[in-house]
Amino acid sequence: MATWRGFVFINMDPYAESFDSYRGTFDDYYIWPLENRYKSLHIGKVLPCNWKIAQDAFIESFHVIATHPQMLPWLADANSQYDVMADQPHWNRMINIQGAPSPHVADSVTEEDVLETFYDSRAFYSAAQGRDLVRQEGDELPAIPPGGTARQVLAERMRAQLAATSQQDFSQTPDTELLDAINYLLFPNFNPWGGAKSNIIYRFRPNGLDPDSCTAEIIFMSSPKQPGEMPPPAKIRWVPEDMLFADVPELGVLGPVFDQDCENLPYVQQGLKAMRKPGITLANYQESRIRHFNRTLDQWMDK
Ligand SMILES: [Fe+2]
Repeated sequence: MATWRGFVFINMDPYAESFDSYRGTFDDYYIWPLENRYKSLHIGKVLPCNWKIAQDAFIESFHVIATHPQMLPWLADANSQYDVMADQPHWNRMINIQGAPSPHVADSVTEEDVLETFYDSRAFYSAAQGRDLVRQEGDELPAIPPGGTARQVLAERMRAQLAATSQQDFSQTPDTELLDAINYLLFPNFNPWGGAKSNIIYRFRPNGLDPDSCTAEIIFMSSPKQPGEMPPPAKIRWVPEDMLFADVPELGVLGPVFDQDCENLPYVQQGLKAMRKPGITLANYQESRIRHFNRTLDQWMDK
């Protein structure tokens, strides 16, 4: 057993390597103090696919143009950064710029469009969570100074909001930590988002012995309103398989996005069973994290 930033990791193998060496350089890159946050939401649901299929869907941004076209004006997808290192088999990362348009639509999107769609996508977000920028009914959009960008405006807004809701100083926090989607995978299935905002954690697990279904969990780690205060952790709430994530109000903007992500999962599962060739074809760069995960998995299965 080992603990890491408030999380408990258990390995039943008495001869397992230490969790410290297993993580490799992960701690040099995952820098956010989860131990100072508390579990403010924990949702679980059974999905109709293998756990690896579900996880694959959340570790690349190749799918954004097809699955989440509404995000293209403010989410840079085709130029996402994937960090996959051969000597670090147990973790990988991606960074997606937010507050800037996708290269697929950049020619037809203005800075004002970026700002407006970014805010609109969060219009129904729970302001009480303090997780994100919210435009209240009747709020004017902030003005973009001449020569400035939507991203600069959004970063300043986020900096001010986080300072106001957590009583901490974010004046030196880089824009990327305030705005971007920075997602890590610690093999096999600990999937924390980075950043100065409250963090999201995914966990995908087998559903008993059924290879055709899995459990998916979404956890929000939030900063206490006062430093040092630590509210009790939220208990896991299992939602029925036929319920949409969009109908879980606390998920806010993420609910319908998760539903989009989950829509094709049963078809991917069926497709894998219908394949004649021994492996799947992955995009060279955009799906490099999936390849990295499967290589590590193969190495473990060979042991
Ligand atoms: Fe997605």
